[in-house]
Amino acid sequence: MFDPSSHKPIVLTGDRTTGPLHLGHYVGSLKNRVKLQETHRQFLLLADTQALTDNAHDPAKVRRNVLEVALDYLAVGIDPLKTTICVQSGLPALAELTTLYLNYVTVARLERNPTIKDEIRARGFGRDIPAGFLCYPVAQAADITSFKATVVPVGEDQAPLIEQTNEIVRRINHQIGRDVLLEAEAVIPRVGRLPGIDGKAKMSKSQGNAILLSASPDEIRDAVRRMYTDPNHLSASDPGTVEGNVVFTYLDAFDEDEPAVAEQKAHYRRGGLGDVTVKRRLETVLQDLLAPIRERRAQLARNPRHVLDLLREGTRQARAVTQATLDDVRSGLGLFQ
Ligand code: TRP
Repeated sequence: MFDPSSHKPIVLTGDRTTGPLHLGHYVGSLKNRVKLQETHRQFLLLADTQALTDNAHDPAKVRRNVLEVALDYLAVGIDPLKTTICVQSGLPALAELTTLYLNYVTVARLERNPTIKDEIRARGFGRDIPAGFLCYPVAQAADITSFKATVVPVGEDQAPLIEQTNEIVRRINHQIGRDVLLEAEAVIPRVGRLPGIDGKAKMSKSQGNAILLSASPDEIRDAVRRMYTDPNHLSASDPGTVEGNVVFTYLDAFDEDEPAVAEQKAHYRRGGLGDVTVKRRLETVLQDLLAPIRERRAQLARNPRHVLDLLREGTRQARAVTQATLDDVRSGLGLFQ
């Protein structure tokens, strides 16, 4: 069990529980989280309440994916003895902190948040924005501050949320007159975002361009076969383009034999290297990466009770941590005790 008196810096990240995780999550964050659990006190939040902010019509999906995402975490090597995995809806202190924080944020500020603006556009809400959706950055500020996290590894798109969190921290601390809450730093991964297999900028299950961590060997083979390459590279003897060619982007991300990849790129550019050959190499790399993950996941999925027990225990621990912060804020503001 983790040592509560440890002085390691606290890191919090999480995922909305809207679907199983994919290779984009793996390169962008999961791999890093497996490392962070060795050096940091790490909490992972299964953000089911946040998932409801744009999935209110399908709570069953949100519920089901709590288990799916937890299985993905454990399958890639998140160790529940080193990382506390918890479920957002099981932490009532987060909702209470959100209610308090909402008074320190204006609607205009929420509407100006670039992440939210983009997401509102992408979801086609028009004027019918669920209030919970508009306010989720405030709930996320509650997530981050309640754990006293100072390190928040997130994708670039989430940076404005951390900025908004820190504004709230400063307002509350100013109101209370001392630093009850800690500011957090967004740690953006250096590796770029993994494109979808169709070459679109973002891998996403809903776009049908993802390779899930739970993909079967046939699904992996099929995805690699359909993968976007250079549309002008019509025959193997033609010179081809490597930039924007998803097969090479993935080889860069997953093939550890860098000199061999560099050699393949040069050959492809020169001409004489067919798509089928490079794809065969990538398929091998991905099959080797995902086989042990799939195996571990399947083994864990056979005993969902065990996984749910882990989540209950993690949530129980997180309840104490988040409640302590709520108590600090309540007494700082001088509310009724
Ligand atoms: N917004 C994050 C996402 O969509 C999920 C999340 C919820 C989160 N609470 C968080 C991330 C707190 C970091 C810290 O992926």
